[in-house]
Amino acid sequence: MNTRSRSRARGRWAPGAEALAAAARALKRIAFDSRSAEDALGAFESAAERAAIRAITLGTTRWYLRLTPVIERLLEKPERLAPELRALLAAGAHQIEYSRNPAHSTVDAAVDAARILKQDRAAGLVNAVLRRFAREKEALFAAADADIAVRTAHPTWLVEQLRAAWPDHYERILDANNAHPPMVVRVDTSRTSVADYIAELSGAGLNAAPVVWANAAVQLEHPVAVSALPGFAEGRVSVQDAGAQLAAPLLECQPGMRVLDACAAPGGKTGHLAELTPGLAALVAVDADARRIERVRENLQRLGREATLVVADMRNPQAFWDGKPFDRVLVDAPCSSTGVIRRHPDIKLLRRPGDIAALAATQLEILRAGFRMLAPGGRLVYSTCSVLPVENEQVLAEFLRRERRARVVPATLVAEAPGAVQRVAGVQLLPGAEAGTDGFHYACVEKATGGT
Ligand SMILES: C[S@@+](CC[C@H](N)C(=O)[O-])C[C@H]1O[C@@H](n2cnc3c(N)ncnc32)[C@H](O)[C@@H]1O
Repeated sequence: MNTRSRSRARGRWAPGAEALAAAARALKRIAFDSRSAEDALGAFESAAERAAIRAITLGTTRWYLRLTPVIERLLEKPERLAPELRALLAAGAHQIEYSRNPAHSTVDAAVDAARILKQDRAAGLVNAVLRRFAREKEALFAAADADIAVRTAHPTWLVEQLRAAWPDHYERILDANNAHPPMVVRVDTSRTSVADYIAELSGAGLNAAPVVWANAAVQLEHPVAVSALPGFAEGRVSVQDAGAQLAAPLLECQPGMRVLDACAAPGGKTGHLAELTPGLAALVAVDADARRIERVRENLQRLGREATLVVADMRNPQAFWDGKPFDRVLVDAPCSSTGVIRRHPDIKLLRRPGDIAALAATQLEILRAGFRMLAPGGRLVYSTCSVLPVENEQVLAEFLRRERRARVVPATLVAEAPGAVQRVAGVQLLPGAEAGTDGFHYACVEKATGGT
Protein backbone atom coordinates (compact mmCIF):
# COMPACT_ATOMS: atom_id res chain seq x y z
CA MET A 1 0.00 0.00 0.00
CA ASN A 2 1.54 3.37 -0.96
CA THR A 3 1.36 6.45 1.25
CA ARG A 4 -1.64 8.00 -0.51
CA SER A 5 -3.76 4.88 -0.40
CA ARG A 6 -2.87 4.50 3.30
CA SER A 7 -3.96 8.05 4.10
CA ARG A 8 -7.18 7.55 2.12
CA ALA A 9 -7.81 4.33 4.00
CA ARG A 10 -7.74 6.43 7.17
CA GLY A 11 -10.30 8.75 5.61
CA ARG A 12 -7.89 11.59 4.90
CA TRP A 13 -7.60 13.27 1.59
CA ALA A 14 -4.93 15.28 -0.18
CA PRO A 15 -4.85 18.88 1.13
CA GLY A 16 -7.53 20.97 -0.55
CA ALA A 17 -9.47 17.97 -1.90
CA GLU A 18 -12.57 18.58 0.19
CA ALA A 19 -12.75 22.27 -0.71
CA LEU A 20 -12.29 21.41 -4.38
CA ALA A 21 -15.05 18.77 -4.25
CA ALA A 22 -17.43 21.23 -2.55
CA ALA A 23 -16.55 23.94 -5.09
CA ALA A 24 -17.28 21.46 -7.91
CA ARG A 25 -20.70 20.78 -6.38
CA ALA A 26 -21.46 24.50 -6.14
CA LEU A 27 -20.14 25.17 -9.63
CA LYS A 28 -22.23 22.37 -11.08
CA ARG A 29 -25.33 24.07 -9.67
CA ILE A 30 -24.37 27.37 -11.28
CA ALA A 31 -23.16 26.08 -14.65
CA PHE A 32 -25.58 23.20 -15.18
CA ASP A 33 -28.64 23.93 -13.01
CA SER A 34 -28.76 27.74 -13.60
CA ARG A 35 -28.68 28.54 -9.89
CA SER A 36 -27.17 31.81 -8.68
CA ALA A 37 -23.77 31.67 -6.99
CA GLU A 38 -25.25 32.89 -3.68
CA ASP A 39 -27.84 30.14 -3.83
CA ALA A 40 -25.30 27.49 -4.83
CA LEU A 41 -22.88 28.53 -2.09
CA GLY A 42 -25.61 28.68 0.55
CA ALA A 43 -25.24 24.94 1.22
CA PHE A 44 -21.61 25.47 2.29
CA GLU A 45 -22.15 28.42 4.62
CA SER A 46 -21.23 26.44 7.71
CA ALA A 47 -18.39 24.42 6.15
CA ALA A 48 -15.02 24.85 7.88
CA GLU A 49 -13.44 25.71 4.53
CA ARG A 50 -16.19 28.04 3.34
CA ALA A 51 -13.76 30.85 2.42
CA ALA A 52 -11.75 28.51 0.19
CA ILE A 53 -14.90 26.97 -1.32
CA ARG A 54 -16.23 30.42 -2.11
CA ALA A 55 -12.97 31.64 -3.61
CA ILE A 56 -12.56 28.57 -5.85
CA THR A 57 -16.23 28.61 -6.92
CA LEU A 58 -16.35 32.31 -7.76
CA GLY A 59 -12.89 32.29 -9.35
CA THR A 60 -13.79 29.32 -11.55
CA THR A 61 -17.15 30.89 -12.40
CA ARG A 62 -15.34 34.07 -13.47
CA TRP A 63 -13.09 32.15 -15.86
CA TYR A 64 -15.37 29.22 -16.70
CA LEU A 65 -15.96 30.23 -20.31
CA ARG A 66 -12.20 30.43 -20.91
CA LEU A 67 -11.35 27.21 -19.07
CA THR A 68 -13.99 24.86 -20.45
CA PRO A 69 -13.20 25.17 -24.18
CA VAL A 70 -9.61 24.22 -23.37
CA ILE A 71 -10.52 21.36 -21.01
CA GLU A 72 -13.01 20.03 -23.54
CA ARG A 73 -10.30 19.78 -26.14
CA LEU A 74 -8.62 17.27 -23.85
CA LEU A 75 -11.71 15.07 -23.56
CA GLU A 76 -13.13 12.76 -26.19
CA LYS A 77 -16.80 13.14 -25.28
CA PRO A 78 -17.16 15.85 -22.64
CA GLU A 79 -20.96 15.67 -22.77
CA ARG A 80 -20.81 12.09 -21.48
CA LEU A 81 -19.05 13.11 -18.25
CA ALA A 82 -21.13 13.73 -15.14
CA PRO A 83 -21.72 17.50 -14.68
CA GLU A 84 -19.96 17.44 -11.29
CA LEU A 85 -16.88 15.97 -12.91
CA ARG A 86 -16.89 18.59 -15.63
CA ALA A 87 -17.20 21.22 -12.93
CA LEU A 88 -14.33 19.57 -11.01
CA LEU A 89 -12.09 19.67 -14.08
CA ALA A 90 -12.87 23.37 -14.55
CA ALA A 91 -12.18 24.08 -10.85
CA GLY A 92 -8.91 22.11 -11.02
CA ALA A 93 -7.88 23.92 -14.20
CA HIS A 94 -8.73 27.23 -12.52
CA GLN A 95 -6.46 26.42 -9.60
CA ILE A 96 -3.64 25.44 -11.95
CA GLU A 97 -3.98 28.55 -14.13
CA TYR A 98 -4.95 31.22 -11.60
CA SER A 99 -3.69 30.17 -8.14
CA ARG A 100 -0.21 29.94 -6.71
CA ASN A 101 -0.66 26.31 -5.65
CA PRO A 102 1.81 23.95 -7.33
CA ALA A 103 0.05 22.17 -10.21
CA HIS A 104 0.91 18.69 -8.91
CA SER A 105 -0.79 19.45 -5.54
CA THR A 106 -3.92 20.61 -7.36
CA VAL A 107 -3.93 17.45 -9.46
CA ASP A 108 -3.61 15.27 -6.33
CA ALA A 109 -6.43 17.24 -4.66
CA ALA A 110 -8.64 16.94 -7.75
CA VAL A 111 -8.08 13.17 -7.97
CA ASP A 112 -9.19 12.80 -4.34
CA ALA A 113 -12.05 15.26 -4.96
CA ALA A 114 -13.32 12.92 -7.70
CA ARG A 115 -13.43 10.15 -5.09
CA ILE A 116 -15.19 12.42 -2.57
CA LEU A 117 -17.76 13.06 -5.32
CA LYS A 118 -18.16 9.26 -5.58
CA GLN A 119 -16.63 9.25 -9.05
CA ASP A 120 -13.84 6.82 -8.19
CA ARG A 121 -13.77 5.40 -11.69
CA ALA A 122 -13.04 8.84 -13.11
CA ALA A 123 -10.04 9.48 -10.82
CA GLY A 124 -7.61 8.32 -13.52
CA LEU A 125 -9.21 10.56 -16.13
CA VAL A 126 -9.09 13.59 -13.81
CA ASN A 127 -5.43 12.86 -13.17
CA ALA A 128 -4.59 12.51 -16.87
CA VAL A 129 -6.59 15.52 -18.07
CA LEU A 130 -5.32 17.94 -15.44
CA ARG A 131 -1.70 16.79 -15.83
CA ARG A 132 -1.95 17.34 -19.57
CA PHE A 133 -3.64 20.71 -19.00
CA ALA A 134 -0.78 21.76 -16.71
CA ARG A 135 1.81 20.66 -19.29
CA GLU A 136 0.20 22.11 -22.41
CA LYS A 137 -1.85 25.03 -21.17
CA GLU A 138 0.23 27.76 -22.76
CA ALA A 139 -0.22 26.37 -26.25
CA LEU A 140 -3.86 25.49 -25.59
CA PHE A 141 -4.70 29.01 -24.39
CA ALA A 142 -2.68 30.64 -27.16
CA ALA A 143 -5.05 29.04 -29.67
CA ALA A 144 -8.28 29.47 -27.69
CA ASP A 145 -7.57 33.09 -26.67
CA ALA A 146 -7.65 34.22 -30.29
CA ASP A 147 -11.40 34.49 -29.70
CA ILE A 148 -12.07 37.52 -27.48
CA ALA A 149 -15.14 35.82 -25.97
CA VAL A 150 -12.93 32.95 -24.78
CA ARG A 151 -10.02 35.15 -23.74
CA THR A 152 -12.28 37.29 -21.56
CA ALA A 153 -14.56 34.38 -20.55
CA HIS A 154 -17.83 35.93 -21.72
CA PRO A 155 -20.66 34.37 -23.73
CA THR A 156 -20.34 35.23 -27.42
CA TRP A 157 -23.81 36.82 -27.62
CA LEU A 158 -22.90 39.26 -24.84
CA VAL A 159 -19.59 40.19 -26.45
CA GLU A 160 -21.46 40.87 -29.68
CA GLN A 161 -24.04 43.05 -27.96
CA LEU A 162 -21.35 44.98 -26.09
CA ARG A 163 -19.29 45.45 -29.25
CA ALA A 164 -22.34 46.76 -31.12
CA ALA A 165 -23.36 49.12 -28.29
CA TRP A 166 -19.92 50.28 -27.19
CA PRO A 167 -17.46 49.91 -30.08
CA ASP A 168 -14.90 52.17 -28.36
CA HIS A 169 -15.34 50.76 -24.87
CA TYR A 170 -16.26 47.10 -25.08
CA GLU A 171 -12.76 45.65 -24.63
CA ARG A 172 -12.25 47.69 -21.48
CA ILE A 173 -15.68 46.61 -20.23
CA LEU A 174 -14.84 42.94 -20.82
CA ASP A 175 -11.52 43.25 -18.98
CA ALA A 176 -13.07 45.23 -16.12
CA ASN A 177 -15.73 42.55 -15.70
CA ASN A 178 -12.97 40.11 -14.71
CA ALA A 179 -11.24 42.42 -12.25
CA HIS A 180 -11.75 42.13 -8.51
CA PRO A 181 -14.04 45.00 -7.50
CA PRO A 182 -13.07 47.59 -4.91
CA MET A 183 -14.94 47.80 -1.62
CA VAL A 184 -16.79 51.10 -1.38
CA VAL A 185 -18.88 52.18 1.57
CA ARG A 186 -21.52 54.85 2.00
CA VAL A 187 -21.14 56.90 5.15
CA ASP A 188 -24.30 58.19 6.82
CA THR A 189 -23.05 61.75 6.76
CA SER A 190 -25.83 62.87 9.12
CA ARG A 191 -23.95 60.90 11.79
CA THR A 192 -20.26 60.90 10.76
CA SER A 193 -18.41 62.99 8.19
CA VAL A 194 -16.47 61.26 5.42
CA ALA A 195 -13.21 62.75 6.76
CA ASP A 196 -13.93 61.49 10.30
CA TYR A 197 -14.85 58.06 8.98
CA ILE A 198 -11.62 57.80 6.99
CA ALA A 199 -9.76 58.69 10.20
CA GLU A 200 -11.69 55.96 12.04
CA LEU A 201 -10.77 53.44 9.36
CA SER A 202 -7.16 54.50 9.64
CA GLY A 203 -7.35 53.96 13.40
CA ALA A 204 -8.53 50.43 12.67
CA GLY A 205 -5.53 49.93 10.37
CA LEU A 206 -7.55 50.31 7.14
CA ASN A 207 -6.45 52.70 4.40
CA ALA A 208 -9.21 54.44 2.47
CA ALA A 209 -9.86 57.48 0.31
CA PRO A 210 -12.91 59.62 -0.44
CA VAL A 211 -14.63 59.36 -3.83
CA VAL A 212 -14.70 63.03 -4.79
CA TRP A 213 -17.75 62.91 -7.10
CA ALA A 214 -19.97 60.83 -4.74
CA ASN A 215 -20.05 62.76 -1.53
CA ALA A 216 -20.77 59.98 0.98
CA ALA A 217 -18.52 57.37 -0.68
CA VAL A 218 -15.27 56.01 0.71
CA GLN A 219 -13.16 53.44 -1.10
CA LEU A 220 -11.09 51.02 0.93
CA GLU A 221 -7.63 50.10 -0.26
CA HIS A 222 -8.41 46.42 0.38
CA PRO A 223 -11.79 44.76 0.88
CA VAL A 224 -12.51 43.52 4.42
CA ALA A 225 -15.35 41.67 6.13
CA VAL A 226 -18.16 44.07 7.08
CA SER A 227 -17.60 43.10 10.72
CA ALA A 228 -14.21 44.85 10.46
CA LEU A 229 -15.82 48.16 9.42
CA PRO A 230 -16.10 50.61 12.32
CA GLY A 231 -19.74 51.57 12.89
CA PHE A 232 -21.20 48.95 10.53
CA ALA A 233 -23.29 47.16 13.18
CA GLU A 234 -24.75 50.46 14.39
CA GLY A 235 -25.60 51.52 10.85
CA ARG A 236 -23.22 54.42 10.37
CA VAL A 237 -21.95 52.89 7.17
CA SER A 238 -23.22 50.60 4.39
CA VAL A 239 -21.44 48.75 1.61
CA GLN A 240 -22.50 50.22 -1.75
CA ASP A 241 -20.70 50.83 -5.02
CA ALA A 242 -20.04 54.54 -5.61
CA GLY A 243 -22.09 54.44 -8.82
CA ALA A 244 -25.10 53.12 -6.91
CA GLN A 245 -24.76 55.99 -4.45
CA LEU A 246 -25.95 58.47 -7.08
CA ALA A 247 -29.57 57.29 -7.23
CA ALA A 248 -30.83 58.80 -3.98
CA PRO A 249 -29.25 62.27 -4.40
CA LEU A 250 -30.52 62.43 -8.01
CA LEU A 251 -34.07 62.42 -6.70
CA GLU A 252 -33.47 65.68 -4.75
CA CYS A 253 -35.99 64.79 -2.06
CA GLN A 254 -37.17 67.42 0.43
CA PRO A 255 -38.67 66.97 3.89
CA GLY A 256 -42.43 66.49 3.71
CA MET A 257 -42.34 64.70 0.36
CA ARG A 258 -43.93 61.35 -0.41
CA VAL A 259 -41.30 59.04 -1.93
CA LEU A 260 -41.77 55.68 -3.65
CA ASP A 261 -38.90 53.22 -4.04
CA ALA A 262 -40.54 50.97 -6.60
CA CYS A 263 -38.06 48.04 -6.78
CA ALA A 264 -36.48 48.31 -3.39
CA ALA A 265 -34.88 45.07 -2.29
CA PRO A 266 -32.39 44.52 -0.74
CA GLY A 267 -32.80 48.14 0.26
CA GLY A 268 -29.45 49.76 -0.48
CA LYS A 269 -31.10 52.80 -2.04
CA THR A 270 -34.05 52.85 0.39
CA GLY A 271 -31.58 53.24 3.24
CA HIS A 272 -29.75 56.00 1.41
CA LEU A 273 -33.03 57.86 0.72
CA ALA A 274 -33.94 57.67 4.40
CA GLU A 275 -30.50 58.89 5.48
CA LEU A 276 -30.41 61.80 3.04
CA THR A 277 -33.78 63.36 3.82
CA PRO A 278 -35.14 63.08 7.33
CA GLY A 279 -38.77 64.14 7.72
CA LEU A 280 -40.23 62.63 4.56
CA ALA A 281 -44.02 62.41 4.73
CA ALA A 282 -43.79 58.86 3.41
CA LEU A 283 -41.10 56.49 2.19
CA VAL A 284 -42.75 53.46 0.61
CA ALA A 285 -40.49 50.58 -0.44
CA VAL A 286 -42.11 48.09 -2.82
CA ASP A 287 -40.67 44.82 -4.05
CA ALA A 288 -42.28 41.82 -5.71
CA ASP A 289 -40.14 39.34 -3.80
CA ALA A 290 -41.29 38.68 -0.23
CA ARG A 291 -38.01 37.06 0.79
CA ARG A 292 -35.97 39.93 -0.56
CA ILE A 293 -38.13 42.53 1.18
CA GLU A 294 -37.02 40.96 4.45
CA ARG A 295 -33.53 42.10 3.51
CA VAL A 296 -34.87 45.67 3.24
CA ARG A 297 -36.33 45.31 6.73
CA GLU A 298 -33.01 44.05 8.14
CA ASN A 299 -31.02 46.78 6.42
CA LEU A 300 -33.32 49.55 7.65
CA GLN A 301 -33.23 48.10 11.15
CA ARG A 302 -29.42 48.20 11.15
CA LEU A 303 -29.49 51.80 9.91
CA GLY A 304 -32.13 52.79 12.47
CA ARG A 305 -34.35 54.13 9.66
CA GLU A 306 -37.94 53.52 8.70
CA ALA A 307 -40.00 52.92 5.59
CA THR A 308 -43.34 51.34 4.76
CA LEU A 309 -42.57 47.98 3.19
CA VAL A 310 -44.92 46.52 0.60
CA VAL A 311 -44.68 43.19 -1.19
CA ALA A 312 -46.34 43.83 -4.54
CA ASP A 313 -45.89 43.69 -8.28
CA MET A 314 -45.34 47.21 -9.56
CA ARG A 315 -47.00 46.23 -12.84
CA ASN A 316 -50.26 46.02 -10.96
CA PRO A 317 -50.24 49.07 -8.64
CA GLN A 318 -54.01 49.17 -8.09
CA ALA A 319 -53.53 46.07 -5.89
CA PHE A 320 -51.71 48.13 -3.24
CA TRP A 321 -51.83 51.85 -4.09
CA ASP A 322 -54.43 54.15 -2.54
CA GLY A 323 -54.12 56.62 -5.43
CA LYS A 324 -52.21 59.30 -3.46
CA PRO A 325 -49.44 60.49 -5.80
CA PHE A 326 -45.76 60.49 -4.91
CA ASP A 327 -43.48 63.52 -5.27
CA ARG A 328 -40.52 61.30 -6.05
CA VAL A 329 -40.32 57.83 -7.58
CA LEU A 330 -37.26 55.66 -7.91
CA VAL A 331 -37.55 52.84 -10.47
CA ASP A 332 -34.37 50.82 -9.90
CA ALA A 333 -35.59 48.20 -12.32
CA PRO A 334 -34.85 44.47 -12.41
CA CYS A 335 -32.29 44.05 -15.20
CA SER A 336 -29.67 41.82 -16.79
CA SER A 337 -27.11 43.02 -14.20
CA THR A 338 -24.55 43.17 -17.00
CA GLY A 339 -23.01 46.20 -15.26
CA VAL A 340 -22.13 44.26 -12.10
CA ILE A 341 -20.45 41.17 -13.56
CA ARG A 342 -17.23 41.86 -11.65
CA ARG A 343 -19.21 41.42 -8.40
CA HIS A 344 -21.43 38.62 -9.73
CA PRO A 345 -19.47 36.55 -12.27
CA ASP A 346 -22.30 33.97 -12.35
CA ILE A 347 -24.24 36.44 -14.54
CA LYS A 348 -22.01 35.38 -17.43
CA LEU A 349 -23.30 31.82 -17.10
CA LEU A 350 -26.89 32.53 -16.09
CA ARG A 351 -28.07 35.15 -18.59
CA ARG A 352 -29.47 34.02 -21.92
CA PRO A 353 -29.84 36.30 -24.95
CA GLY A 354 -33.62 35.88 -24.84
CA ASP A 355 -33.73 37.29 -21.28
CA ILE A 356 -32.97 40.81 -22.44
CA ALA A 357 -36.13 41.53 -24.43
CA ALA A 358 -38.26 40.04 -21.63
CA LEU A 359 -36.53 42.25 -19.07
CA ALA A 360 -37.00 45.32 -21.26
CA ALA A 361 -40.75 44.61 -21.47
CA THR A 362 -40.99 44.37 -17.65
CA GLN A 363 -38.87 47.49 -17.21
CA LEU A 364 -41.18 49.48 -19.49
CA GLU A 365 -44.27 48.30 -17.60
CA ILE A 366 -42.76 49.20 -14.22
CA LEU A 367 -41.56 52.56 -15.51
CA ARG A 368 -45.01 53.41 -16.86
CA ALA A 369 -46.68 52.36 -13.60
CA GLY A 370 -44.17 54.40 -11.56
CA PHE A 371 -44.85 57.44 -13.73
CA ARG A 372 -48.61 57.06 -13.23
CA MET A 373 -48.00 57.19 -9.49
CA LEU A 374 -45.90 60.38 -9.79
CA ALA A 375 -47.44 63.73 -8.85
CA PRO A 376 -47.50 66.53 -11.46
CA GLY A 377 -44.24 68.47 -11.03
CA GLY A 378 -42.66 65.38 -9.45
CA ARG A 379 -39.44 63.63 -10.42
CA LEU A 380 -38.78 60.01 -11.34
CA VAL A 381 -35.37 58.38 -11.61
CA TYR A 382 -35.08 55.31 -13.84
CA SER A 383 -31.95 53.30 -13.13
CA THR A 384 -30.51 49.92 -14.03
CA CYS A 385 -27.21 48.15 -13.45
CA SER A 386 -27.24 47.13 -17.12
CA VAL A 387 -24.87 48.29 -19.84
CA LEU A 388 -27.19 47.20 -22.64
CA PRO A 389 -29.07 49.97 -24.50
CA VAL A 390 -32.10 47.69 -24.94
CA GLU A 391 -32.73 48.00 -21.19
CA ASN A 392 -31.83 51.67 -20.95
CA GLU A 393 -32.24 54.14 -23.77
CA GLN A 394 -34.59 51.91 -25.73
CA VAL A 395 -36.91 51.49 -22.76
CA LEU A 396 -36.79 55.24 -22.18
CA ALA A 397 -37.38 56.03 -25.84
CA GLU A 398 -40.44 53.80 -25.92
CA PHE A 399 -41.69 55.31 -22.64
CA LEU A 400 -41.15 58.91 -23.83
CA ARG A 401 -42.85 58.19 -27.17
CA ARG A 402 -46.13 57.54 -25.35
CA GLU A 403 -45.88 59.74 -22.22
CA ARG A 404 -46.57 63.27 -23.36
CA ARG A 405 -46.24 64.59 -19.79
CA ALA A 406 -42.72 63.20 -19.30
CA ARG A 407 -39.79 65.57 -19.70
CA VAL A 408 -36.18 64.44 -19.43
CA VAL A 409 -34.01 66.53 -17.12
CA PRO A 410 -30.21 66.27 -16.99
CA ALA A 411 -28.73 63.74 -14.57
CA THR A 412 -25.91 66.19 -13.85
CA LEU A 413 -24.65 64.39 -10.77
CA VAL A 414 -24.02 61.23 -12.81
CA ALA A 415 -22.58 63.11 -15.79
CA GLU A 416 -19.91 64.49 -13.43
CA ALA A 417 -18.49 61.02 -12.68
CA PRO A 418 -15.22 60.61 -14.60
CA GLY A 419 -15.79 58.74 -17.86
CA ALA A 420 -19.60 58.95 -17.69
CA VAL A 421 -21.18 58.75 -21.14
CA GLN A 422 -24.09 61.02 -22.03
CA ARG A 423 -26.81 59.05 -23.81
CA VAL A 424 -30.01 60.20 -25.47
CA ALA A 425 -32.13 60.41 -22.34
CA GLY A 426 -29.73 59.44 -19.58
CA VAL A 427 -26.15 58.89 -18.52
CA GLN A 428 -24.23 55.61 -18.58
CA LEU A 429 -21.46 54.62 -16.19
CA LEU A 430 -19.35 51.86 -17.70
CA PRO A 431 -17.19 49.24 -15.99
CA GLY A 432 -13.57 50.04 -16.75
CA ALA A 433 -14.18 53.81 -16.97
CA GLU A 434 -12.09 56.26 -14.93
CA ALA A 435 -14.67 56.45 -12.13
CA GLY A 436 -14.00 52.78 -11.32
CA THR A 437 -17.67 52.02 -10.64
CA ASP A 438 -19.91 49.18 -11.63
CA GLY A 439 -22.00 49.80 -14.75
CA PHE A 440 -25.17 51.85 -14.22
CA HIS A 441 -27.56 53.81 -16.36
CA TYR A 442 -29.50 56.72 -14.88
CA ALA A 443 -32.20 58.94 -16.32
CA CYS A 444 -34.27 61.66 -14.62
CA VAL A 445 -37.78 62.41 -15.80
CA GLU A 446 -40.15 65.07 -14.53
CA LYS A 447 -43.93 65.15 -14.93
CA ALA A 448 -45.41 68.25 -16.48
CA THR A 449 -47.99 70.03 -14.35
CA GLY A 450 -50.47 70.73 -17.16
CA GLY A 451 -51.89 68.66 -20.03
CA THR A 452 -53.10 65.08 -20.03
C1 LIG B 1 -32.02 46.02 -9.12
S1 LIG B 1 -32.94 45.26 -7.88
C2 LIG B 1 -33.23 46.60 -6.80
C3 LIG B 1 -32.05 46.97 -5.94
C4 LIG B 1 -32.42 47.98 -4.85
N1 LIG B 1 -33.04 49.16 -5.40
C5 LIG B 1 -31.25 48.38 -4.02
O1 LIG B 1 -30.65 49.43 -4.22
O2 LIG B 1 -30.89 47.61 -3.11
C6 LIG B 1 -34.50 45.03 -8.62
C7 LIG B 1 -35.56 44.54 -7.69
O3 LIG B 1 -36.80 44.56 -8.42
C8 LIG B 1 -37.63 43.55 -7.90
N2 LIG B 1 -38.71 43.32 -8.88
C9 LIG B 1 -38.67 42.55 -9.99
N3 LIG B 1 -39.84 42.61 -10.64
C10 LIG B 1 -40.64 43.45 -9.92
C11 LIG B 1 -41.97 43.91 -10.09
N4 LIG B 1 -42.70 43.53 -11.13
N5 LIG B 1 -42.48 44.74 -9.15
C12 LIG B 1 -41.74 45.14 -8.10
N6 LIG B 1 -40.45 44.71 -7.89
C13 LIG B 1 -39.92 43.89 -8.79
C14 LIG B 1 -36.69 42.40 -7.66
O4 LIG B 1 -37.22 41.50 -6.71
C15 LIG B 1 -35.42 43.11 -7.18
O5 LIG B 1 -35.35 43.12 -5.78
